[in-house]
Amino acid sequence: MAIDYAERIPNNVNLSENRRLQRALEQWQPGFQSWWGEMGPAGFQDKEVYLRTATSVDAQGWATFGYVKMPEYRWGIFLAEAERDRKIAFGEHRGEPAWQEVPGEYRGALRRLIVTQGDTEPASVEQQRHLGSTCPSLYDLRNLFQVNVEEARHLWAMVYLLHAHFGRDGREEAEALLQRRSGSADNPRILGAFNEQTPDWLSFLMFTFFTDRDGKYQLASLAESAFDPLARTCRFMLTEEAHHMFVGETGIGRVVQRSCELMKQHDTDEVGRFGGIDLKLVQKYLNFHYSVSLDLFGAELSTNAANYFSMGLKGRFSEESREDDHQLKHALYTITQVNDQRIVQREQPALLALNETLRDAYIADCARGVARWNKVIHSAGIDFELRLPHRGFHRAIGGCAAVKVTPDGRIITEAEWDAHHAQWLPTAEERKFVGSLMKPVTAPGQFAGWIAPPARGINHQAIDFEYVRL
Ligand SMILES: [Fe+2]
Ligand SMILES: [Fe+2]
Repeated sequence: MAIDYAERIPNNVNLSENRRLQRALEQWQPGFQSWWGEMGPAGFQDKEVYLRTATSVDAQGWATFGYVKMPEYRWGIFLAEAERDRKIAFGEHRGEPAWQEVPGEYRGALRRLIVTQGDTEPASVEQQRHLGSTCPSLYDLRNLFQVNVEEARHLWAMVYLLHAHFGRDGREEAEALLQRRSGSADNPRILGAFNEQTPDWLSFLMFTFFTDRDGKYQLASLAESAFDPLARTCRFMLTEEAHHMFVGETGIGRVVQRSCELMKQHDTDEVGRFGGIDLKLVQKYLNFHYSVSLDLFGAELSTNAANYFSMGLKGRFSEESREDDHQLKHALYTITQVNDQRIVQREQPALLALNETLRDAYIADCARGVARWNKVIHSAGIDFELRLPHRGFHRAIGGCAAVKVTPDGRIITEAEWDAHHAQWLPTAEERKFVGSLMKPVTAPGQFAGWIAPPARGINHQAIDFEYVRL
């Protein structure tokens, strides 16, 4: 289905045939634009950025690349193609036709899921808004802005659902999505990780690797939803999300590569005084971002998650390729729990353990990325390994939130934690040091000293292409 760019709001949902909805969204649009002006990237708004814009939603060739000033980016509403006669794949309604409208009894639950997802999208733009002024290269600057405009488009995606399917409540929620602010004391974003700061580029790259990846898993489970418009919206969002994780994975890979080069060149592990980031410090940032992202999946046992599944609102990762009854009536699942000051594995009803099931898929995916970073280290001939810390480390949600756990999974006392946490998480001083490396590099083809150039450019362009015209 082609996207209509002649419209004020580009879309592939025949918006012009629904005047009421079109008017409602056109009324929301100016508020969105002033939010972008106020909370989107600081500076650079009048610069031309080499961005991709969606032009169709099929798997191949959905994007076109060209110079755009960010405020002129064509944010719009794009749903993946409808699947003919789609059937509900899981839960109590398994086998029934997917819903095109929200069933009255699930309205509240569905709205809450959509609002929670929608809230993360503008939140990350707000968290990243000051990074442009310290970009390590034009290539990276362009990637940051690409992520930002796409997160803003994801906000549009959720707002469309709220406006189209939830009446007045939906319109109010859409308004509230523009009112909350990341890190605000009186009106914060909904989820913890989205109120943390993203003060430097190392944090940004970690965020896109770990926190955008949580987004991937949430979207993938919503892409299974019985509510077809939500499923289709999320399926298309996932294709955009892939780029965000690419930015994180290759970005951290390039930091690691640069650190290795400096280690070999100067024959030392301590590359800070040569303008690099010690691998040990990379590990600490990893520990932080991984643990706050694990919290986003919620408690190990959750009746909410069980209800969402049984209702058909939110499935599991790759629901359809799983070989079981897709209702989990009698199934068990092994989860990690704290019992009597010990970390133990226990079988629990699989239906209650869906958050943990999704977290497990996420952890396996993170581990694959870390293994690729370790390849960079090993092929440099350096004896060091980055690791995911234990899932109980530094958690604020779930069973392990009540105890202190080391990166290798031992429960320790508060006093031991106080004495040692500076070995595991970045200290204020280390964060300051990383901040001190953040000097802008804006000549085409030049890169800051703490990060290696990428292997290739964007969309077959050269690495020294002018990705942002300053
Ligand atoms: Fe997103
Ligand atoms: Fe993202």
